[in-house]
Amino acid sequence: MTTIEETLVLVKPDGVARGLTGEILRRIEAKGYSLVDLRLVEADRDLLAQHYAEHEGKPFYEPLIEFMESGPSVAIRLAGNRVIEGFRSLAGTTDPTTAAPGTIRGDLGRDWGLKVQQNLVHGSDSPESAARELALWFA
Ligand code: PPS
Repeated sequence: MTTIEETLVLVKPDGVARGLTGEILRRIEAKGYSLVDLRLVEADRDLLAQHYAEHEGKPFYEPLIEFMESGPSVAIRLAGNRVIEGFRSLAGTTDPTTAAPGTIRGDLGRDWGLKVQQNLVHGSDSPESAARELALWFA
């Protein structure tokens, strides 16, 4: 069965600052997903508070918001069959130190000894999140 979906992918500020946007796009395109739209975004606190609303109150919330405000992110509208779970599989698990080799986080990320985990990318986790997040970043 085919389920064509769209998802929001972010190359986070660490990925942009390290010059990894091209490598991350290469992996996405090599997997066969379609780039529908792409933009460089300097996210402000209002956008980030809405984007990460479900995590408010968690210990990593404030450092995460500060990290995401620290530089531009590349927002990507990505389409394909089962792209939501497909991109999250491409990204690897949250902690780059233990993310599987072969994934974006596992191959390109590491612990830099900072208070915040810099894990290079974000991908929506459900069709509902994707619709909500795409509306925020591509308003
Ligand atoms: S949770 O609590 O299980 O929902 O957490 P998780 O799904 O793993 O992560 C939710 C988002 O928070 C980010 N995260 C962190 N960022 C910085 N530092 C730390 N310690 C940290 N822990 C979790 C994680 O990357 C998710 O953000 P996105 O943007 O979706 O990757």
